[in-house]
Amino acid sequence: MVEEAVPEPRGRGARAVGRSGEGPRPLAAVSAGESIRRATGLAELDRVLGGGLVQGSVVLVGGDPGIGKSTLALQACGALARQGLPVLYVAGEESPEQVRLRADRLGMAEPGVLIVAETGAEAVTDLIASSRPAAVVVDSIQTLHTSALGSAPGSVGQVRESAGVLVACAKASGVACILVGHVTKEGTLAGPRVLEHLVDTVLYFEGDGAHALRVLRAVKNRFGSTNEVAVFEMGEGGLVEVPNPSAAFLAERPAGAPGSVVLATLEGSRPVLVEIQALVSRSGLAMPRRAAIGLDPGRVALLLAVLEKRMRLPLHDQDVFLNVAGGLRVEEPAADLAVVAAVASSARGRPIADDAVVWGEVGLAGEVRGVGRAEARLREAARQGFRRCILPASTARGLAAIDGTRAEGIAALDQLFTALGLG
Ligand code: TYD
Ligand code: MG
Repeated sequence: MVEEAVPEPRGRGARAVGRSGEGPRPLAAVSAGESIRRATGLAELDRVLGGGLVQGSVVLVGGDPGIGKSTLALQACGALARQGLPVLYVAGEESPEQVRLRADRLGMAEPGVLIVAETGAEAVTDLIASSRPAAVVVDSIQTLHTSALGSAPGSVGQVRESAGVLVACAKASGVACILVGHVTKEGTLAGPRVLEHLVDTVLYFEGDGAHALRVLRAVKNRFGSTNEVAVFEMGEGGLVEVPNPSAAFLAERPAGAPGSVVLATLEGSRPVLVEIQALVSRSGLAMPRRAAIGLDPGRVALLLAVLEKRMRLPLHDQDVFLNVAGGLRVEEPAADLAVVAAVASSARGRPIADDAVVWGEVGLAGEVRGVGRAEARLREAARQGFRRCILPASTARGLAAIDGTRAEGIAALDQLFTALGLG
Protein backbone atom coordinates (compact mmCIF):
# COMPACT_ATOMS: atom_id res chain seq x y z
CA MET A 1 0.00 0.00 0.00
CA VAL A 2 1.49 3.35 -1.03
CA GLU A 3 0.21 6.60 0.39
CA GLU A 4 -0.76 9.19 -2.22
CA ALA A 5 -1.14 12.92 -1.69
CA VAL A 6 -4.63 14.24 -2.37
CA PRO A 7 -4.12 16.99 -4.93
CA GLU A 8 -5.39 20.38 -3.92
CA PRO A 9 -7.96 21.81 -6.35
CA ARG A 10 -5.42 24.45 -7.45
CA GLY A 11 -2.01 25.56 -6.35
CA ARG A 12 0.86 23.27 -5.36
CA GLY A 13 -0.37 20.09 -7.02
CA ALA A 14 -1.08 21.76 -10.35
CA ARG A 15 2.23 21.99 -12.15
CA ALA A 16 2.89 25.19 -14.03
CA VAL A 17 3.44 23.74 -17.47
CA GLY A 18 3.14 27.14 -19.09
CA ARG A 19 2.44 26.75 -22.76
CA SER A 20 -0.41 24.28 -22.32
CA GLY A 21 -2.99 26.87 -23.40
CA GLU A 22 -1.44 27.35 -26.84
CA GLY A 23 -3.04 24.38 -28.53
CA PRO A 24 -1.48 22.23 -31.24
CA ARG A 25 0.90 23.76 -33.75
CA PRO A 26 3.11 22.35 -36.52
CA LEU A 27 6.13 20.54 -35.10
CA ALA A 28 8.23 22.22 -37.76
CA ALA A 29 7.26 25.61 -36.36
CA VAL A 30 8.68 24.81 -32.92
CA SER A 31 12.10 26.35 -32.51
CA ALA A 32 14.59 23.78 -31.28
CA GLY A 33 16.61 26.11 -29.09
CA GLU A 34 19.65 24.47 -27.52
CA SER A 35 19.02 23.97 -23.84
CA ILE A 36 21.53 25.75 -21.68
CA ARG A 37 24.24 23.39 -20.56
CA ARG A 38 27.02 23.92 -18.08
CA ALA A 39 30.07 21.72 -17.97
CA THR A 40 30.59 20.65 -14.37
CA GLY A 41 34.33 20.50 -14.86
CA LEU A 42 34.56 16.75 -14.16
CA ALA A 43 35.20 15.68 -17.73
CA GLU A 44 34.01 12.09 -17.39
CA LEU A 45 30.81 13.10 -15.60
CA ASP A 46 30.12 15.70 -18.28
CA ARG A 47 30.55 13.08 -20.98
CA VAL A 48 27.97 10.78 -19.37
CA LEU A 49 25.58 13.70 -18.94
CA GLY A 50 25.91 14.48 -22.65
CA GLY A 51 28.09 17.56 -22.29
CA GLY A 52 27.18 18.97 -18.91
CA LEU A 53 24.31 19.80 -16.58
CA VAL A 54 21.28 21.24 -18.35
CA GLN A 55 19.62 24.13 -16.54
CA GLY A 56 16.37 23.10 -14.91
CA SER A 57 17.08 19.41 -15.39
CA VAL A 58 16.94 16.78 -12.67
CA VAL A 59 19.64 14.11 -12.54
CA LEU A 60 19.25 11.03 -10.40
CA VAL A 61 22.47 9.31 -9.29
CA GLY A 62 21.69 5.81 -8.02
CA GLY A 63 23.88 3.10 -6.61
CA ASP A 64 24.61 0.83 -3.69
CA PRO A 65 25.45 2.40 -0.33
CA GLY A 66 29.17 3.12 -0.05
CA ILE A 67 29.83 3.08 -3.78
CA GLY A 68 30.80 6.77 -3.87
CA LYS A 69 27.66 8.73 -4.77
CA SER A 70 28.19 11.40 -2.13
CA THR A 71 31.83 11.70 -3.12
CA LEU A 72 30.93 12.20 -6.78
CA ALA A 73 28.22 14.73 -5.91
CA LEU A 74 30.57 16.69 -3.68
CA GLN A 75 33.34 16.67 -6.28
CA ALA A 76 30.86 17.96 -8.85
CA CYS A 77 29.89 20.75 -6.43
CA GLY A 78 33.55 21.65 -5.97
CA ALA A 79 34.19 21.71 -9.70
CA LEU A 80 31.16 23.94 -10.32
CA ALA A 81 32.11 26.28 -7.49
CA ARG A 82 35.62 26.56 -8.91
CA GLN A 83 34.04 28.10 -12.02
CA GLY A 84 32.38 30.69 -9.83
CA LEU A 85 28.96 29.01 -9.86
CA PRO A 86 27.27 28.84 -6.45
CA VAL A 87 25.96 25.41 -5.47
CA LEU A 88 23.77 24.25 -2.62
CA TYR A 89 24.47 20.90 -0.97
CA VAL A 90 21.51 19.58 1.02
CA ALA A 91 22.87 17.03 3.47
CA GLY A 92 20.15 14.78 4.77
CA GLU A 93 22.31 11.86 5.81
CA GLU A 94 25.48 13.37 7.11
CA SER A 95 26.07 16.41 9.28
CA PRO A 96 27.71 19.46 7.68
CA GLU A 97 30.79 18.66 9.82
CA GLN A 98 31.07 15.21 8.26
CA VAL A 99 30.69 16.66 4.79
CA ARG A 100 33.37 19.21 5.64
CA LEU A 101 35.73 16.41 6.66
CA ARG A 102 35.14 14.71 3.32
CA ALA A 103 35.61 17.98 1.46
CA ASP A 104 38.97 18.43 3.19
CA ARG A 105 39.94 14.94 2.16
CA LEU A 106 39.00 15.78 -1.42
CA GLY A 107 41.15 18.90 -1.20
CA MET A 108 38.31 21.28 -1.92
CA ALA A 109 37.67 24.32 0.23
CA GLU A 110 35.51 26.23 -2.20
CA PRO A 111 33.69 29.18 -0.70
CA GLY A 112 31.00 28.79 -3.39
CA VAL A 113 29.58 25.60 -1.89
CA LEU A 114 26.72 26.29 0.51
CA ILE A 115 25.68 23.46 2.78
CA VAL A 116 22.53 22.95 4.78
CA ALA A 117 21.25 20.05 6.87
CA GLU A 118 17.62 19.86 5.81
CA THR A 119 15.13 17.09 5.24
CA GLY A 120 11.93 18.94 4.38
CA ALA A 121 11.22 19.06 0.64
CA GLU A 122 9.32 22.36 0.87
CA ALA A 123 12.10 23.88 2.99
CA VAL A 124 14.61 22.89 0.31
CA THR A 125 12.59 24.60 -2.41
CA ASP A 126 12.40 27.73 -0.22
CA LEU A 127 16.19 27.61 0.18
CA ILE A 128 16.61 27.28 -3.57
CA ALA A 129 14.38 30.29 -4.10
CA SER A 130 16.26 32.40 -1.53
CA SER A 131 19.86 31.41 -2.29
CA ARG A 132 19.45 31.01 -6.08
CA PRO A 133 22.26 28.52 -6.69
CA ALA A 134 23.28 27.31 -10.16
CA ALA A 135 22.85 23.73 -9.02
CA VAL A 136 21.57 21.88 -5.99
CA VAL A 137 22.57 18.45 -4.69
CA VAL A 138 20.15 16.52 -2.49
CA ASP A 139 21.92 13.71 -0.61
CA SER A 140 19.86 11.63 -0.40
CA ILE A 141 16.33 11.72 -1.76
CA GLN A 142 15.38 8.96 0.72
CA THR A 143 15.90 11.30 3.67
CA LEU A 144 13.55 13.94 2.28
CA HIS A 145 9.93 14.18 3.36
CA THR A 146 7.04 16.36 2.36
CA SER A 147 4.34 17.69 4.63
CA ALA A 148 1.72 16.60 2.08
CA LEU A 149 2.01 13.03 3.34
CA GLY A 150 1.90 11.53 6.78
CA SER A 151 4.02 8.45 6.08
CA ALA A 152 7.62 8.04 7.23
CA PRO A 153 10.59 9.40 5.25
CA GLY A 154 12.04 6.76 2.96
CA SER A 155 8.67 5.21 2.07
CA VAL A 156 7.72 4.95 -1.58
CA GLY A 157 5.08 7.68 -1.29
CA GLN A 158 7.43 10.10 0.44
CA VAL A 159 10.32 9.51 -1.94
CA ARG A 160 8.12 9.96 -4.98
CA GLU A 161 6.25 12.99 -3.68
CA SER A 162 9.41 14.75 -2.41
CA ALA A 163 11.12 14.18 -5.74
CA GLY A 164 8.02 15.57 -7.46
CA VAL A 165 8.27 18.76 -5.39
CA LEU A 166 11.94 19.16 -6.38
CA VAL A 167 11.30 18.41 -10.05
CA ALA A 168 8.60 21.09 -10.17
CA CYS A 169 10.95 23.53 -8.43
CA ALA A 170 13.85 22.77 -10.83
CA LYS A 171 11.63 23.26 -13.89
CA ALA A 172 10.20 26.51 -12.54
CA SER A 173 13.47 28.02 -11.31
CA GLY A 174 15.91 26.67 -13.92
CA VAL A 175 18.19 25.30 -11.20
CA ALA A 176 19.85 22.01 -12.11
CA CYS A 177 19.15 19.40 -9.46
CA ILE A 178 21.19 16.30 -8.63
CA LEU A 179 19.33 13.74 -6.53
CA VAL A 180 21.33 11.00 -4.84
CA GLY A 181 19.40 7.77 -4.34
CA HIS A 182 20.38 4.49 -2.71
CA VAL A 183 19.49 1.21 -4.25
CA THR A 184 17.78 -0.36 -1.26
CA LYS A 185 18.43 -3.85 0.01
CA GLU A 186 14.92 -4.89 -1.00
CA GLY A 187 15.83 -4.08 -4.58
CA THR A 188 13.52 -1.61 -6.22
CA LEU A 189 11.26 -0.64 -3.32
CA ALA A 190 11.52 3.07 -2.49
CA GLY A 191 14.80 3.12 -4.37
CA PRO A 192 15.82 5.14 -7.41
CA ARG A 193 13.66 2.96 -9.67
CA VAL A 194 10.42 4.60 -8.51
CA LEU A 195 11.84 7.95 -9.63
CA GLU A 196 13.18 7.02 -13.06
CA HIS A 197 10.12 8.27 -14.92
CA LEU A 198 10.06 11.55 -12.99
CA VAL A 199 13.57 12.79 -13.67
CA ASP A 200 15.38 13.78 -16.88
CA THR A 201 18.53 11.77 -16.47
CA VAL A 202 19.29 8.60 -14.54
CA LEU A 203 22.89 7.65 -13.83
CA TYR A 204 23.86 4.45 -12.06
CA PHE A 205 27.10 4.05 -10.22
CA GLU A 206 28.34 0.46 -10.37
CA GLY A 207 31.26 -1.52 -9.10
CA ASP A 208 31.80 -3.67 -6.08
CA GLY A 209 33.15 -2.43 -2.79
CA ALA A 210 36.19 -4.68 -3.04
CA HIS A 211 37.53 -3.01 -6.17
CA ALA A 212 38.55 0.58 -6.66
CA LEU A 213 37.14 0.83 -10.19
CA ARG A 214 33.67 2.36 -10.57
CA VAL A 215 31.56 2.65 -13.68
CA LEU A 216 29.07 5.49 -14.08
CA ARG A 217 26.41 4.64 -16.65
CA ALA A 218 23.53 6.65 -18.07
CA VAL A 219 20.39 4.52 -18.29
CA LYS A 220 18.10 7.38 -19.26
CA ASN A 221 18.96 10.78 -20.64
CA ARG A 222 16.49 13.25 -22.10
CA PHE A 223 19.38 15.55 -23.02
CA GLY A 224 21.93 13.16 -24.44
CA SER A 225 22.68 9.59 -25.39
CA THR A 226 22.58 6.68 -22.97
CA ASN A 227 25.62 5.18 -24.63
CA GLU A 228 28.19 6.93 -22.55
CA VAL A 229 30.02 5.36 -19.68
CA ALA A 230 32.62 6.85 -17.39
CA VAL A 231 35.19 4.93 -15.42
CA PHE A 232 36.50 6.24 -12.12
CA GLU A 233 38.91 4.94 -9.56
CA MET A 234 38.23 5.52 -5.85
CA GLY A 235 41.42 6.58 -4.17
CA GLU A 236 42.66 8.46 -1.12
CA GLY A 237 41.73 11.80 -2.62
CA GLY A 238 38.31 10.78 -3.91
CA LEU A 239 37.24 9.69 -7.37
CA VAL A 240 39.81 10.00 -10.11
CA GLU A 241 38.88 9.72 -13.77
CA VAL A 242 40.43 6.73 -15.53
CA PRO A 243 41.39 7.79 -19.03
CA ASN A 244 42.47 4.31 -20.15
CA PRO A 245 39.97 1.81 -18.68
CA SER A 246 41.32 -1.16 -20.66
CA ALA A 247 44.76 -0.84 -19.07
CA ALA A 248 43.14 -0.54 -15.63
CA PHE A 249 40.97 -3.64 -16.12
CA LEU A 250 43.90 -5.69 -17.45
CA ALA A 251 46.47 -4.46 -14.93
CA GLU A 252 46.54 -7.64 -12.83
CA ARG A 253 46.10 -10.24 -15.56
CA PRO A 254 48.27 -13.29 -14.85
CA ALA A 255 50.59 -14.30 -17.69
CA GLY A 256 50.30 -17.80 -19.07
CA ALA A 257 47.52 -18.95 -16.73
CA PRO A 258 44.90 -21.30 -18.19
CA GLY A 259 41.34 -19.98 -17.99
CA SER A 260 42.18 -16.34 -18.62
CA VAL A 261 41.21 -14.60 -21.83
CA VAL A 262 40.88 -10.98 -22.94
CA LEU A 263 37.53 -9.81 -24.29
CA ALA A 264 36.91 -6.62 -26.24
CA THR A 265 33.52 -5.45 -25.01
CA LEU A 266 31.56 -2.27 -25.54
CA GLU A 267 30.84 -0.11 -22.54
CA GLY A 268 28.27 2.17 -24.04
CA SER A 269 29.86 3.33 -27.25
CA ARG A 270 33.37 2.81 -25.99
CA PRO A 271 35.38 -0.37 -26.54
CA VAL A 272 37.03 -1.68 -23.37
CA LEU A 273 39.24 -4.71 -22.91
CA VAL A 274 38.47 -6.86 -19.88
CA GLU A 275 39.73 -10.18 -18.62
CA ILE A 276 37.31 -13.10 -18.37
CA GLN A 277 38.45 -15.84 -16.00
CA ALA A 278 37.21 -19.39 -15.72
CA LEU A 279 38.03 -22.14 -13.29
CA VAL A 280 36.90 -25.65 -14.14
CA SER A 281 37.55 -28.29 -11.51
CA ARG A 282 36.31 -31.75 -10.65
CA SER A 283 33.15 -31.61 -8.58
CA GLY A 284 32.42 -33.72 -5.54
CA LEU A 285 28.75 -32.81 -5.70
CA ALA A 286 25.88 -34.61 -7.41
CA MET A 287 24.89 -31.22 -8.85
CA PRO A 288 28.14 -29.51 -9.87
CA ARG A 289 28.37 -25.84 -9.03
CA ARG A 290 28.12 -23.09 -11.63
CA ALA A 291 28.82 -19.54 -10.53
CA ALA A 292 29.27 -16.49 -12.73
CA ILE A 293 30.23 -13.10 -11.34
CA GLY A 294 29.64 -10.19 -13.70
CA LEU A 295 28.01 -12.39 -16.37
CA ASP A 296 24.45 -13.57 -16.98
CA PRO A 297 24.17 -17.04 -15.36
CA GLY A 298 21.49 -18.17 -17.82
CA ARG A 299 23.72 -17.32 -20.75
CA VAL A 300 26.66 -19.10 -19.12
CA ALA A 301 24.57 -22.27 -18.63
CA LEU A 302 23.64 -22.17 -22.31
CA LEU A 303 27.27 -21.81 -23.38
CA LEU A 304 28.38 -24.70 -21.16
CA ALA A 305 25.71 -26.88 -22.79
CA VAL A 306 26.94 -25.87 -26.24
CA LEU A 307 30.53 -26.73 -25.25
CA GLU A 308 29.46 -30.12 -23.91
CA LYS A 309 27.26 -31.06 -26.86
CA ARG A 310 29.09 -29.55 -29.84
CA MET A 311 32.70 -29.65 -28.69
CA ARG A 312 32.43 -32.81 -26.57
CA LEU A 313 33.98 -31.04 -23.61
CA PRO A 314 32.94 -33.04 -20.52
CA LEU A 315 31.61 -30.48 -18.04
CA HIS A 316 28.70 -32.34 -16.43
CA ASP A 317 30.88 -33.52 -13.52
CA GLN A 318 32.89 -30.32 -13.21
CA ASP A 319 32.36 -27.21 -11.10
CA VAL A 320 32.58 -24.12 -13.31
CA PHE A 321 33.32 -20.67 -11.93
CA LEU A 322 33.47 -17.54 -14.08
CA ASN A 323 34.49 -14.04 -13.20
CA VAL A 324 34.91 -10.71 -14.94
CA ALA A 325 38.09 -9.30 -13.42
CA GLY A 326 37.87 -5.79 -11.99
CA GLY A 327 34.22 -5.99 -10.90
CA LEU A 328 32.71 -5.01 -14.26
CA ARG A 329 29.38 -6.41 -15.48
CA VAL A 330 29.34 -7.59 -19.08
CA GLU A 331 25.87 -8.02 -20.56
CA GLU A 332 26.45 -8.16 -24.30
CA PRO A 333 26.42 -11.45 -26.25
CA ALA A 334 29.86 -10.58 -27.62
CA ALA A 335 31.21 -12.03 -24.35
CA ASP A 336 30.11 -15.55 -25.40
CA LEU A 337 33.28 -16.36 -27.28
CA ALA A 338 35.43 -15.25 -24.35
CA VAL A 339 33.40 -17.35 -21.89
CA VAL A 340 33.73 -20.40 -24.13
CA ALA A 341 37.47 -19.84 -24.64
CA ALA A 342 38.13 -19.31 -20.92
CA VAL A 343 36.18 -22.43 -19.91
CA ALA A 344 37.85 -24.59 -22.56
CA SER A 345 41.28 -23.23 -21.64
CA SER A 346 40.77 -24.06 -17.96
CA ALA A 347 39.21 -27.46 -18.66
CA ARG A 348 42.11 -28.45 -20.92
CA GLY A 349 44.75 -26.76 -18.77
CA ARG A 350 46.12 -24.89 -21.76
CA PRO A 351 46.77 -21.17 -21.51
CA ILE A 352 45.55 -18.82 -24.22
CA ALA A 353 48.16 -16.81 -26.11
CA ASP A 354 48.93 -13.55 -24.29
CA ASP A 355 48.55 -11.45 -27.42
CA ALA A 356 45.03 -12.55 -28.39
CA VAL A 357 41.70 -10.76 -27.89
CA VAL A 358 38.36 -12.43 -28.63
CA TRP A 359 34.73 -11.40 -29.08
CA GLY A 360 31.61 -12.80 -30.75
CA GLU A 361 28.24 -14.33 -30.08
CA VAL A 362 27.85 -18.11 -29.94
CA GLY A 363 24.71 -19.81 -31.23
CA LEU A 364 23.19 -23.09 -30.08
CA ALA A 365 24.63 -24.97 -33.04
CA GLY A 366 28.13 -23.87 -32.07
CA GLU A 367 28.18 -21.25 -34.80
CA VAL A 368 29.83 -17.89 -34.20
CA ARG A 369 27.61 -14.89 -34.93
CA GLY A 370 28.52 -11.33 -35.74
CA VAL A 371 28.36 -8.46 -33.26
CA GLY A 372 28.74 -4.75 -33.93
CA ARG A 373 31.64 -2.31 -33.99
CA ALA A 374 34.37 -4.76 -35.06
CA GLU A 375 36.70 -2.01 -36.19
CA ALA A 376 36.44 -0.05 -32.94
CA ARG A 377 37.20 -3.18 -30.94
CA LEU A 378 40.14 -4.04 -33.19
CA ARG A 379 41.52 -0.53 -32.82
CA GLU A 380 41.32 -0.73 -29.02
CA ALA A 381 43.09 -4.12 -29.07
CA ALA A 382 45.83 -2.59 -31.24
CA ARG A 383 46.11 0.41 -28.94
CA GLN A 384 46.69 -1.90 -25.96
CA GLY A 385 49.40 -3.81 -27.82
CA PHE A 386 47.57 -7.03 -28.72
CA ARG A 387 48.51 -8.70 -32.03
CA ARG A 388 45.58 -11.04 -32.82
CA CYS A 389 41.83 -10.54 -32.71
CA ILE A 390 39.60 -13.59 -33.01
CA LEU A 391 36.15 -12.49 -34.09
CA PRO A 392 33.10 -13.64 -36.07
CA ALA A 393 33.97 -14.32 -39.71
CA SER A 394 30.94 -12.35 -40.91
CA THR A 395 32.34 -9.11 -39.48
CA ALA A 396 36.02 -9.90 -40.10
CA ARG A 397 35.61 -9.79 -43.86
CA GLY A 398 37.17 -6.67 -45.29
CA LEU A 399 38.62 -5.63 -41.94
CA ALA A 400 42.20 -4.51 -42.47
CA ALA A 401 44.93 -5.00 -39.89
CA ILE A 402 45.52 -1.96 -37.69
CA ASP A 403 49.11 -1.29 -36.64
CA GLY A 404 49.96 -4.93 -37.27
CA THR A 405 47.02 -6.27 -35.26
CA ARG A 406 45.27 -8.87 -37.40
CA ALA A 407 41.63 -9.87 -37.53
CA GLU A 408 41.09 -13.65 -37.69
CA GLY A 409 37.53 -14.53 -38.60
CA ILE A 410 36.00 -17.75 -37.33
CA ALA A 411 32.59 -19.20 -38.16
CA ALA A 412 32.30 -22.01 -35.62
CA LEU A 413 33.68 -23.12 -32.27
CA ASP A 414 36.01 -25.76 -33.71
CA GLN A 415 37.83 -22.95 -35.51
CA LEU A 416 38.12 -21.08 -32.20
CA PHE A 417 39.72 -24.15 -30.63
CA THR A 418 42.15 -24.44 -33.56
CA ALA A 419 43.01 -20.74 -33.55
CA LEU A 420 43.76 -20.74 -29.82
CA GLY A 421 45.38 -24.18 -29.74
CA LEU A 422 42.76 -25.59 -27.40
CA GLY A 423 42.56 -28.79 -29.40
P1 TYD B 1 30.45 7.71 -0.30
O1 TYD B 1 30.58 8.77 -1.31
O2 TYD B 1 30.10 8.12 1.09
O3 TYD B 1 29.39 6.60 -0.77
P2 TYD B 1 27.80 6.70 -0.93
O4 TYD B 1 27.39 8.13 -0.80
O5 TYD B 1 27.51 6.12 -2.28
O6 TYD B 1 27.20 5.86 0.15
O7 TYD B 1 31.85 6.94 -0.30
C1 TYD B 1 31.95 5.64 0.13
C2 TYD B 1 33.33 5.08 0.29
O8 TYD B 1 34.34 5.72 -0.41
C3 TYD B 1 33.72 5.09 1.73
O9 TYD B 1 33.76 3.73 2.15
C4 TYD B 1 35.07 5.68 1.79
C5 TYD B 1 35.52 5.73 0.37
N1 TYD B 1 36.30 6.93 0.05
C6 TYD B 1 37.61 6.81 -0.37
O10 TYD B 1 38.14 5.70 -0.50
N2 TYD B 1 38.32 7.93 -0.66
C7 TYD B 1 37.81 9.18 -0.54
O11 TYD B 1 38.48 10.17 -0.83
C8 TYD B 1 36.44 9.30 -0.09
C9 TYD B 1 35.82 10.65 0.08
C10 TYD B 1 35.73 8.16 0.20
MG1 MG C 1 26.30 9.02 0.76
